[in-house]
Amino acid sequence: MVLSTLFVGLLATIPVLAHDHTFCDSVVPPRNVTLPRNGTVGTNGTAFITGSPWRLTKRQTAPAPPAVPIYIHIVAGSQSRQDGYLTDAEVDTQMDIIHNLFQPYGITFQHDPSMRKWVVNASWAGPSRDNFNEMKEALHKGDYRAINLYIRNITVESYGGSCTNPWTHEEVNKTPFPSRLLRDGCVINTATLSGSGHAYMDQGKTAVHEIGHWFGLFHTYEDQGVRDGFNPPNPCWVGNPDDDVLDTPKCKGVAAGQCNKKQNTCPEPAGAEPVYDAVDNYMSESSDACYERFTEGQKQRMYAVYEKYRKGETRG
Ligand SMILES: *[C@@H]1O[C@H](CO)[C@@H](O)[C@H](O)[C@H]1NC(C)=O
Ligand SMILES: *[C@@H]1O[C@H](CO)[C@@H](O)[C@H](O)[C@H]1NC(C)=O
Ligand SMILES: *[C@@H]1O[C@H](CO)[C@@H](O)[C@H](O)[C@H]1NC(C)=O
Ligand SMILES: *[C@@H]1O[C@H](CO)[C@@H](O)[C@H](O)[C@H]1NC(C)=O
Ligand SMILES: *[C@@H]1O[C@H](CO)[C@@H](O)[C@H](O)[C@H]1NC(C)=O
Repeated sequence: MVLSTLFVGLLATIPVLAHDHTFCDSVVPPRNVTLPRNGTVGTNGTAFITGSPWRLTKRQTAPAPPAVPIYIHIVAGSQSRQDGYLTDAEVDTQMDIIHNLFQPYGITFQHDPSMRKWVVNASWAGPSRDNFNEMKEALHKGDYRAINLYIRNITVESYGGSCTNPWTHEEVNKTPFPSRLLRDGCVINTATLSGSGHAYMDQGKTAVHEIGHWFGLFHTYEDQGVRDGFNPPNPCWVGNPDDDVLDTPKCKGVAAGQCNKKQNTCPEPAGAEPVYDAVDNYMSESSDACYERFTEGQKQRMYAVYEKYRKGETRG
């Protein structure tokens, strides 16, 4: 999967950022440690750092979101399957995967066939572009509490998808409503659907990864800890906030398509029990065959981000 579109905004503001997906973390800070620079670590797994717009300002606990409406846009180059014009059954399968994989975390979705639309536009299919704001602005449905999932026939095989975090546009790109709302949503490549035959994105789990971003999750090795002026001594440093979730071990990166469950890019000191990189996490960038879980900390973060950024946002 490629970077979520969020990181386009972040990259511009961060001077030193080696975004190289070849390495990952394992050193979980002691749970009562106070991080430098306005940071605190909660007692049960989630760190929230203050003083930065894309972070929660304090550790929060929140209830599970109510069933999240999900609108699906099938964006094809023509009315043929080869150009991305899916059958209803294929959309059902993708929805079932989303339902089934989020259900263990108490997150549910509301979707019925009236919430899917087929769009034929050759400029929106085909090669990838930097963003698809024009497409999203034309097609978006619902308010900020609804997911818009665009299944685009993208011809770039390595491009899995992208998604906006809830704060992306207003707080990072300074885009106010209504564009902030209209540009919200997740894009996935038609080639990532279940049974596509893609080498590592072939079980429909790219949608799960991208929806994780919609709920405010970062990659498990996010920016190798180099954010918010922390300038950590190295990506494995215990004080790195990385993804703001403490139960995903620190990691330097996961190569796309890789599934080495003994990968340990931030090794423990000699003699200590190894804590392997979370390559099986939906928010790594390993492979559909490898993806198995979110953590408790990620679940809590999804709930809290939803509560803070999406729940009360009814402008539509
Ligand atoms: C952290 O917790 C441990 C064990 O509960 C305690 O011994 C230690 O003093 C605590 N450290 C701080 C900085 O509070
Ligand atoms: C985390 O801690 C908070 C308060 O300290 C508590 O209300 C919450 O139930 C805890 N969550 C879990 C999953 O233990
Ligand atoms: C904490 O964040 C606030 C707001 O960004 C800032 O004014 C303050 O200087 C920060 N404090 C420390 C210790 O970094
Ligand atoms: C197809 O996409 C182009 C480029 O974004 C846009 O100008 C045009 O209005 C779209 N056509 C339809 C029918 O949506
Ligand atoms: C749709 O995607 C497939 C697979 O990448 C490609 O063969 C086909 O040419 C694409 N169609 C259009 C209209 O881009």
